[in-house]
Amino acid sequence: MSNTKSFPKGFLWGGATAANQIEGAYNEDGKGLNIADVLPGGGKIRQIVRKDHSFELNIDQEKYHYPNHLAIDFYHRYKEDIALFAEMGFKTYRMSIAWSRIFPNGDELEPNEKGLEFYDNVIDELIKYNIEPVVTLSHYEMPLHLVKEYGGWRSRKVIEFFERYVTVVLDRYKNKVKYWLTFNEINAGLKIPLFSLGFLPLKDEDENKQATFQGLHHQFLASAKAVKLAHEIIPDSIVGCMLISAPVYPYDSNPENVMYALEESQIFNFFCGDVHVRGVYPTYIDKHWKKHNVKLEIEDGDLELLKEGTVDFISFSYYMSRTERVGRTEADGRPGNVIGGAANPFLKASDWGWEIDPTGLRIILNELYDRYQKPLMIVENGLGAYDKVDENGTIQDDYRIDYLRSHISAMADAIEDGVDLIGYTSWGPIDIVSAGTGEMEKRYGFIYVDLDNEGNGTLERKKKKSFDWYKKVIETNGQEL
Ligand code: BG6
Repeated sequence: MSNTKSFPKGFLWGGATAANQIEGAYNEDGKGLNIADVLPGGGKIRQIVRKDHSFELNIDQEKYHYPNHLAIDFYHRYKEDIALFAEMGFKTYRMSIAWSRIFPNGDELEPNEKGLEFYDNVIDELIKYNIEPVVTLSHYEMPLHLVKEYGGWRSRKVIEFFERYVTVVLDRYKNKVKYWLTFNEINAGLKIPLFSLGFLPLKDEDENKQATFQGLHHQFLASAKAVKLAHEIIPDSIVGCMLISAPVYPYDSNPENVMYALEESQIFNFFCGDVHVRGVYPTYIDKHWKKHNVKLEIEDGDLELLKEGTVDFISFSYYMSRTERVGRTEADGRPGNVIGGAANPFLKASDWGWEIDPTGLRIILNELYDRYQKPLMIVENGLGAYDKVDENGTIQDDYRIDYLRSHISAMADAIEDGVDLIGYTSWGPIDIVSAGTGEMEKRYGFIYVDLDNEGNGTLERKKKKSFDWYKKVIETNGQEL
């Protein structure tokens, strides 16, 4: 399909992954355990774990399979994989650095040289192909020791450890990496503290809210410090925040539902972005804190730091929109990325029940740009689907092409609306372990990896039909969809 709308020159096309979902080698070369290493795989187990306040955060190989331990073995195969990204013409690759490869426990004074060497190699390999790295500092992979000994981001002490880690990596890659992201989907902490804030949800709702907002406060401070450090160490660096963004639609035109959707949108979609971009806490949050007895501990200098460390651009993930109404229960709706919504009769859903809504992407691009007037980058988007290798050995993933085509087309519309969109990295350009369910068979890639949910397979890489399609999209800068 030919697209009459155009993308700006130099648009950053590429793909995105996270260390814990792609690398494997979970205990090699001095790497310490992180939170993802103790999350079992297998269908719904991970969904249960994330809500279970008493889950033991240990490895029990007899009882569970841990897909992240091997992941797709990018640690040993990065050259082959990056060569395939280069073949597709990637201009950029979003990756994360696993904090516990650099500081195995998180609180050491000296970094692990072997861990740094691995990222030296990966980054050099990208640069060899003129692929611009976009590096996430923290993507659901906090060192486990910080989770167990300090209670994750609830502890203010963790800011200092994060700062040490960030200083080391900024300094190491100062001549190689310009684009940095601080916390992946920071607003996910509001729903899944375990992944994002490093603590198991607390039983009491108000106590859980207190811990969540205090933890977020510490992350906002850590992010602001990282922005300032990046600007000092790498004067031309461009540092962004990273949000889950899903426009919230009211279920109907009942003003009560419209107001409810607005409040949900403020708290889930915009609260974190408002602090990152404007450097102040928005007034609407006071009411929410009052309702849940949240009393934030703010120290002298904190509010100044938030103002000084605002981000240069906003990056976000987009998989779906969300429909809300007063009184909706969790049982009454569709699942989603971290947060689901009421079923929207106008939308079809993926194999995992996530609603497919390309226009929602155009809407959220407009909402974010109207609100912040800063450059935007979509750093995750894609379709998790079951892929089949057919009798000819090919993978005909036309459904993925349809999904991506419609979303890229919506991006072109948003650019015409006046939105300053600078890049697009589709999620999991090569099949990787899913974060939400710990499955291998929830596949997003243009490149198939021969590995199943139980860890069986050759790990062989195979191009899917979408591989050549995306290559053409990039080659024509989005003209040929
Ligand atoms: C985002 C995460 O929430 O969604 C990724 O940043 C994750 O880490 C992606 O993989 C897709 O979710 P899932 O559960 O399909 O892997």
